[in-house]
Amino acid sequence: MLTDLRTLQLAGKKVLVRCDFNVPLENGAISDPGRIDASLETIRYILEQGGAAVLCSHLGRPKERDLKYTLKPVAEYLSDKLGMKVALAPDCIGDHTGRMITALARGQALLLENLRFHPEEEANDADFAHELARGKEVYVNDAFGTAHRAHASTAGVTRYLSERAPGFLMMREIQALSRLTGNPEHPYVAILGGAKVSDKIGVIRSLMNKVDAFLIGGAMAYTFLRAMGEPTGRSRVEEDKIELAAELLQAARTIGVAFELPSDHVVADAPSGGAAEVVSRIPDNKMGLDIGPETVKRFVARIESAKTVVWNGPLGLFEEAPFARGTLEVGQALAQSSAVSVLGGGDTAAAVANQPWASKFSHISTGGGASLEFLEGIELPGIKALER
Ligand code: 3PG
Repeated sequence: MLTDLRTLQLAGKKVLVRCDFNVPLENGAISDPGRIDASLETIRYILEQGGAAVLCSHLGRPKERDLKYTLKPVAEYLSDKLGMKVALAPDCIGDHTGRMITALARGQALLLENLRFHPEEEANDADFAHELARGKEVYVNDAFGTAHRAHASTAGVTRYLSERAPGFLMMREIQALSRLTGNPEHPYVAILGGAKVSDKIGVIRSLMNKVDAFLIGGAMAYTFLRAMGEPTGRSRVEEDKIELAAELLQAARTIGVAFELPSDHVVADAPSGGAAEVVSRIPDNKMGLDIGPETVKRFVARIESAKTVVWNGPLGLFEEAPFARGTLEVGQALAQSSAVSVLGGGDTAAAVANQPWASKFSHISTGGGASLEFLEGIELPGIKALER
């Protein structure tokens, strides 16, 4: 059972709020603040209730203190969004930070420096978790994107803070994704893309008995095409996963699940060079970089008759305009369809982020790995630790 945040008494209390502020940075500036925005509702609620919010997060994968990964840009962004000064503590634990937390008044927020500046965070070290809990009375976890990690700030810390609850973002994610793992309406379609088959093996296996059709795009499609003996030219193929791809194709055939692969392709000499052209057979000297228009039509037809659709991974190299069409056209059709549509993975969210129809999806998950593991039916440690 998870506690409803609204039932907790927050006034006058120090609330440790684990967020996932692991946002992309370009030259030190936040290029996509989506994950921060997604947690604002929880932070605002805690402040409005008279709590003092001690915010914490990781950023990137530093193994020790490395100011390349400072949360300073996040503190500035939060100050701007919340309309109040959100100071950045020099560390997530220690005396100096402790004094800043003590001085924090009702309705004020403080951001702790990157949790991963301490290797004890990822090691889920008990002493470190205890230190993180020190001086706080309530724990709120809104970091769905990190819920698949059993780290000190997502799991261990709950041993020391018995008053705890998921934040509103965490709850929205759990509710939206549970619609897919519970009893989804059929036809249920999974659109999977991205670079690697290896990232999606678990989810393909676990969805095999649940979905009516897989629509496969992105570079991972070429590994499947190769497994079928189709020409893939110089496309990215995971040679060591061809056999596994063949097994998955066979499993789909045996169960009677449609496994739709691209039947035409947008190809070029290289990801960033050469004229793009549409072909149905990939020539030896070209690489496939997007699904072609005929494939888009087939995928859209599946989407239009679907009742539930999950989408994880772009269908082409969407960062380059000539190869973005497949992802955008399929995305638009899905956004405009009547199906329950749930998107996961940072790349998928980034691919549709600035489109006028992006708000029409039922849910865009802030989790990449976390949303995939949730779909696979794996119990996420960050959610488990919140249970009473
Ligand atoms: C993510 O971006 O998926 C989460 O923030 C988790 O980050 P990690 O993969 O470095 O643990």
